[in-house]
Amino acid sequence: MLRLGIIGTNWITSQFVEAARSTGEYELTAVYSRREETAKKFADDNRSDARLFTDLDEFFAAPDFDVVYIASPNSMHAQQATQALNAGKNVIVEKPMVTNINQMAGIDTALKNHPELFIFEAARHIYEDNFQRVSDFTHTHPISGATLTYMKYSSRYDAFLAGKDPNVFTTKFGGGALEDLGVYLVYAAISWFGVPVKANYSPQILRTGVDGSGVLHLDYPDFAVNLVTGKTTQSYLPSEIYSGRDTLTIDAPESIQRIDYTTGDGTADLAGKQDKNPMVREAAYFAKAINTGDTVARDSKLLLAKKVHTLMTQVRKDAGIDFAND
Ligand SMILES: NC(=O)c1ccc[n+]([C@@H]2O[C@H](COP(=O)([O-])OP(=O)(O)OC[C@H]3O[C@@H](n4cnc5c(N)ncnc54)[C@H](OP(=O)(O)O)[C@@H]3O)[C@@H](O)[C@H]2O)c1
Repeated sequence: MLRLGIIGTNWITSQFVEAARSTGEYELTAVYSRREETAKKFADDNRSDARLFTDLDEFFAAPDFDVVYIASPNSMHAQQATQALNAGKNVIVEKPMVTNINQMAGIDTALKNHPELFIFEAARHIYEDNFQRVSDFTHTHPISGATLTYMKYSSRYDAFLAGKDPNVFTTKFGGGALEDLGVYLVYAAISWFGVPVKANYSPQILRTGVDGSGVLHLDYPDFAVNLVTGKTTQSYLPSEIYSGRDTLTIDAPESIQRIDYTTGDGTADLAGKQDKNPMVREAAYFAKAINTGDTVARDSKLLLAKKVHTLMTQVRKDAGIDFAND
């Protein structure tokens, strides 16, 4: 049984804890929060008698857990993940693992010093069966292009419009549409089509300097892919992948329920059933890799993360979006 510690006490951490428990491979044993009451409430809400911490150094030094799930604001991920590895903990860190590819150096050094440890970015969608089904398609059919969409009106946007600065809409915390939602599409594009030869991001910049929405254009030798992302409007457009005259239509790349394959003969549904909690597959994958010492799985996912964040950093910087900790 993996003993789980958590950082960040918002709803996503409860969802991960529920998913992790459902695999039968984890128990919640340590909770870090900046405030004792919040840590206690999180433990109570999640029916746990986990040890509570309000000091991050004490948390990492504690022998109470083997793996930490990090769901703090984006800008803190890389530093906390590095500190965790240096303290001898395995790491599951929410997307984006880094907000600048330069931060990967610290993670690499920590991993070199602790080669027995594991680190995974919680890019939950790539572990799902339907994501793999699309991969199988793109790797066995000639591709002529694609448009992938993930635009969701943020639950924090009304507060932003009212003059407040929620973390996810600030450069201080590494926010914006690309880092928050676009990252799912970049993961999909690189997994399904490979690394593009050229990439260009056209964002709409908000008053805080982050991108509220944007279109990321990816050029491949024989086709182009457009990624449409945003947090200031709600899109109901499906995504499409073209293969000559045939089309694969996906309802939502970040959480695929439907995959319709339309040819001259009609439309076939290629999707399998999706788990109710979309974090179950990743939690199971991470536990299996850690429990079996599967460093090949670790390294292949880390390599993919590096490709994703190399591209994300490049297009963000080219678009003139600067983060406080760049
Ligand atoms: N995989 C998914 O489907 C999914 C969905 C949603 C979010 N996420 C990811 O999860 C992470 C957290 O997202 P969120 O929306 O929950 O972020 P958030 O509300 O801004 O912050 C998350 C947690 O970090 C702590 N925190 C907040 N502000 C802080 C500050 N100024 N300094 C230090 N700690 C602070 C809080 O925990 P305490 O008060 O307990 O310290 C809070 O619960 C993000 O990286 C996001 O990308 C993933």
